[in-house]
Amino acid sequence: MSNYLEKFEKMRIAGKLAAKTLDMLTENIKPGISTNYIDKLGYEFIKDNGGYSAPLYYRGFQKSLCTSLNHVVCHGIPSDRILNEGDAVNVDVTAIVDDHYGDTSRMFCVGETSVKMNNLINATYESMMRAIRILKPGIKLGDIGYEIQSFVEQKGFSVVRDFCGHGIGTSFHEQPNILHYGKKNTGMELMPGMTFTIEPMINAGKWEVKILNDGWTAVTKDKSLSAQFEHTVGITENGYEIFTESVKGYSKPPY
Ligand code: MF3
Ligand code: CO
Ligand code: CO
Repeated sequence: MSNYLEKFEKMRIAGKLAAKTLDMLTENIKPGISTNYIDKLGYEFIKDNGGYSAPLYYRGFQKSLCTSLNHVVCHGIPSDRILNEGDAVNVDVTAIVDDHYGDTSRMFCVGETSVKMNNLINATYESMMRAIRILKPGIKLGDIGYEIQSFVEQKGFSVVRDFCGHGIGTSFHEQPNILHYGKKNTGMELMPGMTFTIEPMINAGKWEVKILNDGWTAVTKDKSLSAQFEHTVGITENGYEIFTESVKGYSKPPY
């Protein structure tokens, strides 16, 4: 019963480092910097704080974090691309500390972004938080998906189907898959000690995605805007704990 407390203590430490990395980036993301610079800052911060960046060399990925801009859904590869006023970028950081993984992402707005983008960002964040707030032993995986899907679809947005949240602990991606769409009271029941991510990818247009020739970058098929947030969470005896909460209150834009 209390067997998982030691694991939670380590998830807290890894999650906090990932969150602090995003907090640090918040203060550095501005027009004129490249996504490679974000990668370099993230790599160094995690290393200097006793961790390792999980994406680096993961299945051949060559960078330390993902930077997904505008119509990029996820797994964008840092490059020489310069951030311009009006861009919105998701930065997804995963830190390993003492063999445990903390995985989290947020949206960052570069200067002023469009009303459409701002609405999408707000809905995506709110959908993730609505799903987190219902977490406790006894609810089912389908309840999580239902919470996200019903909220964003009622606003005219769509849920990406091709990627999902995942169990996480002493490895990056574990069972179960956490779908961001679904039906109430279906699927596996949650139990104390489970640790997983919730990371909805929400599109302003249709949900279909395609993968670019680099083998990683996922973009919306209809070129509509996309947004994502991610937290790593744990199920407790009567609720949940978020391991990747911002230390500085930088949960969502505007920061
Ligand atoms: N951080 C991503 C996730 O949330 C995984 C990125 S894998 C990478 O699961 F190789 F693209 F970095
Ligand atoms: Co993840
Ligand atoms: Co992630």
